[in-house]
Amino acid sequence: MNENNHASKCVLKSRCTVANGKSCNFQCPHFIATNSRLRASGVPADYRLVTVANSPARASQPAVYKSVDAYVKTFERQFDDNGERIKSLYLYSASPGTGKTTTASAILNEYLTQHYIGSLQRSRQALQQPAYMLDVNAWQTLFNEFNRSNIPADIGEEASRQYYRQMQAAKTAPFAVLDDIGVRNATEAFRGDLHAVINARVTNGLPTVYTSNLPLAEMERVFDARLYDRMRDQCAELGFVGGSKRGMRK
Ligand SMILES: Nc1ncnc2c1ncn2[C@@H]1O[C@H](COP(=O)(O)OP(=O)(O)OP(=O)(O)O)[C@@H](O)[C@H]1O
Ligand SMILES: [Mg+2]
Repeated sequence: MNENNHASKCVLKSRCTVANGKSCNFQCPHFIATNSRLRASGVPADYRLVTVANSPARASQPAVYKSVDAYVKTFERQFDDNGERIKSLYLYSASPGTGKTTTASAILNEYLTQHYIGSLQRSRQALQQPAYMLDVNAWQTLFNEFNRSNIPADIGEEASRQYYRQMQAAKTAPFAVLDDIGVRNATEAFRGDLHAVINARVTNGLPTVYTSNLPLAEMERVFDARLYDRMRDQCAELGFVGGSKRGMRK
């Protein structure tokens, strides 16, 4: 009997014809290639294998997933230089724990998978970081770390290095998730940096999935009218319903 279950660790499993077969193991070059890109994507380890199909949030957010299913079909356009643009999405719920980060991770994984497979089919080298997730809260913590007074230089430098590396990745990745952009207690300086990330993406027409506990219309106050106007151009807002599902996962 074949006891191989390696495919459960692989984001390609639903698309792979040899999943759980003899050649399905840690040495599979496609497993290695997608796994390294997932690690570089900034998606938290817990969400690395979530797909749009297997997402735990799918059942309780049917309206959202109807739109998400249609949305991920447009990812084929990433290879079409003159084609229609891939739009952006704004995932919103006032209540925490409704599945926004889960869904954003599933969408990113889908983009990454389609990028990898599409590149192979076109005999191109897949990008090392086709998609990037910036955890805005964690990014703000890094910011606070190196903006504290009397901080040892080596600690401040390390935090600052990481901070700018993440900022650069979020500005330039072909596809990005900006997770939790409803910044409330942010300094002007930090808000300015986040503004710069979003501005770089919208002016270059790069698709972005935002998640937030504030509705899209609130971004006019959080940032400014000009950026808000650009954010909502080519962007669909999807509202998550219900209360927190945290702790429900088996
Ligand atoms: N609809 C759901 N059914 C079952 N479990 C869910 C559902 N939605 C989310 N979860 C689980 O709840 C936890 C929190 O989900 P997630 O982080 O995606 O929420 P969120 O909307 O991003 O929350 P926050 O607003 O606090 O950032 C995760 O462990 C996730 O698997
Ligand atoms: Mg979240």
